[in-house]
Amino acid sequence: METVGSTHKANDLTGNERTQPLWLLAELSYACPLQCPYCSNPLDFADHRHELTTEDWLRVFREARAMGATQLGFSGGEPLLRRDLEVLIAEARKLGYYTNLITSAVGMDEDRVAAFKAAQLDHIQISFQASSEDLNNQLAGANVFQHKLAMARAVKKHGYPMVLCFVIHRYNIDQMEQILELAIELQADYVELATTQYYGWAWHNRDSLLPNRKQLARAETLAHQYQARMKGKMKIYYVVPDYYENRPKACMNGWGNIFLTIAPDGTALPCHAARQLPGLTLPNVKDHSIEWIWRESPDFNLFRGQGWMKEPCRSCPERFKDFGGCRCQAYLLTGNPRNTDPVCSLSPHHQIVTDAIATANRQASETRPWVFRNPQNSKKFCT
Ligand code: SF4
Ligand code: FES
Repeated sequence: METVGSTHKANDLTGNERTQPLWLLAELSYACPLQCPYCSNPLDFADHRHELTTEDWLRVFREARAMGATQLGFSGGEPLLRRDLEVLIAEARKLGYYTNLITSAVGMDEDRVAAFKAAQLDHIQISFQASSEDLNNQLAGANVFQHKLAMARAVKKHGYPMVLCFVIHRYNIDQMEQILELAIELQADYVELATTQYYGWAWHNRDSLLPNRKQLARAETLAHQYQARMKGKMKIYYVVPDYYENRPKACMNGWGNIFLTIAPDGTALPCHAARQLPGLTLPNVKDHSIEWIWRESPDFNLFRGQGWMKEPCRSCPERFKDFGGCRCQAYLLTGNPRNTDPVCSLSPHHQIVTDAIATANRQASETRPWVFRNPQNSKKFCT
């Protein structure tokens, strides 16, 4: 996903008056024809089947726009499964949003690309699982590689910039060179080498997805070589997995600062993974206005600013830059979302991360079976 926004908005100790939901992510549906084991959707997605109506979504778009939202991402699951997608895009454009479709391209054909163009969609990002057909299809759980290639070409043909996304992990990181060659062959304008973020299904499969240090070093060298070689022709974004860093990512640019995610059933979330956190009330757009959710709801105020922080973040000068890292990662790794993100070397729990890396480094390159993201497996996690 594109990284958007800046840290210029307020992050004082308590206040929220100066923040705006600049970036709205509309997760239109948890349904998906693919089964990627690194999906960040919740494990119990099968429990959340009731999707918002077209009218509900349009009201959300209007209200968020009135509060200053400028970017609107359509994602999922697979957003193409919504038959009203073209209507949603057209209305969003009329409201003045910059619109971005984040898709696997499964459910797309050339007519639909033309319809998106007519609806004035700004940007399409197609994700691939790997550069080789067999691994791509194995990870996706479906024979979709050739279709993805055809759709990537169709997107370019209809005048869109070619934006490709590869989610990188232990099983495809050794294809880095082939991935970048494929991007060149497809005349990509932007390539995101998106390192797996360990939430949802990726968290469940983490120990089999985390690359080892050797793999990472090779991939990084290649990414930098290609960045230099393709300078001015193709923009390559490469981010090292945060487990291998000493400081955490500034997740969401701070909780309740610029990001607003609306889940398929209308649950409003400060980040796409927040559904799993304990103690949230999970406000729904069917019951509350976006303004109330953003400004008043306990959830959006829970980790806003710095008042909630414990030591070592509370007195750390870097708290204005990284906001103490990721609340969801702190919860998943330590059981308490108020803790410092253990990726930080100053965290008293940092060893949890170094232990995970040590395990990854000990393992041979292909060790464990994946648990695929599909409704059957999801039902095992439903209450
Ligand atoms: Fe960031 Fe907290 Fe680590 Fe300081 S202690 S660098 S604020 S995560
Ligand atoms: Fe939820 Fe980082 S993903 S705060």
